[in-house]
Amino acid sequence: MRFQHQPVLLSETLAYLACRPGGIYIDCTLGGGGHAREILLRSTPGGLLLGIDRDAAALEAARERLAPFKERVRLVQGNFRELAGIWRASSLPAPQGILFDLGVSSPQLDEPERGFSYQVDAPLDMRMDKRQELTARQIVNTWPRHELARIIREYGEERWALRIAGFIDERRRRAPLETTGELVDVIKEAIPAAVRRHGPHPARRTFQALRIAVNDELGALKEGLAAAGHILAPGGRVCVISFHSLEDRIAKHTLRQLAAAGELELLTKKPVTPGEEEIQNNPRSRSAKLRAAERVLDQRRDA
Ligand SMILES: C[S@@+](CC[C@H](N)C(=O)[O-])C[C@H]1O[C@@H](n2cnc3c(N)ncnc32)[C@H](O)[C@@H]1O
Repeated sequence: MRFQHQPVLLSETLAYLACRPGGIYIDCTLGGGGHAREILLRSTPGGLLLGIDRDAAALEAARERLAPFKERVRLVQGNFRELAGIWRASSLPAPQGILFDLGVSSPQLDEPERGFSYQVDAPLDMRMDKRQELTARQIVNTWPRHELARIIREYGEERWALRIAGFIDERRRRAPLETTGELVDVIKEAIPAAVRRHGPHPARRTFQALRIAVNDELGALKEGLAAAGHILAPGGRVCVISFHSLEDRIAKHTLRQLAAAGELELLTKKPVTPGEEEIQNNPRSRSAKLRAAERVLDQRRDA
């Protein structure tokens, strides 16, 4: 399948990254390489891009798409929570720009066998990195009922978390849940019919919660963003695009902490959001929020 993913908040992100010829850039969430390609175009000639993704399929697609840039591109399969180590191992100088475009990519959602989508029946998987052991199937079938309720409430912001966890627990006593379709059915049973008739798909919040738990997305974001603040070159910029309030809260707090510590200066007081036109052309952008910050100049060097 061709890996098509429409980059979100593209012109806004590029404006904040302010790419320049010869600059060093790290794309921590390479995906299909949409943002990366534009960064490379804007850092011509001589700019270098280190691209990271946990997902082997994403890296493969990006490798193909970015092939015309030849040795200006280095790709690594890894978790951006290990950003500092990955950058050090690359032996590249300190980067002028670092990008996080969080969440899953459209192709991950569209490939049924990955188990990310509640729209198609597939094995309960949801791993971004297939080398990882923990899957959604394990969480759903083996985590204690109260732990299930906690993640569904915290990561899914689902008010019916306790009921959903209870129904899952009842169901798995009879036979393990194997597929996304089976899980959707249990969630639908747990949420009262009158509530189900309004708002988004009843399984949306629980699926988001499981995905975050399987991939420890929030833990990775805290660590990756803190590392970005430390490794940026003086004057270098970091951009974070988030897609739900939990991610945005972590982005906001981590950037503020780094600003309070005198490492970063915030460039966005409020997050930048997409315009009407982008939302119409790409509904996935609807909930996107961009925050940007700049590494302050090293005082000792200025002295
Ligand atoms: C929204 S997509 C990025 C799309 C990309 N900006 C583009 O324009 O094509 C997010 C990507 O980040 C990857 N990802 C999510 N969390 C990650 C992590 N902790 N470490 C590395 N990659 C991660 C996912 O596998 C996915 O491919």
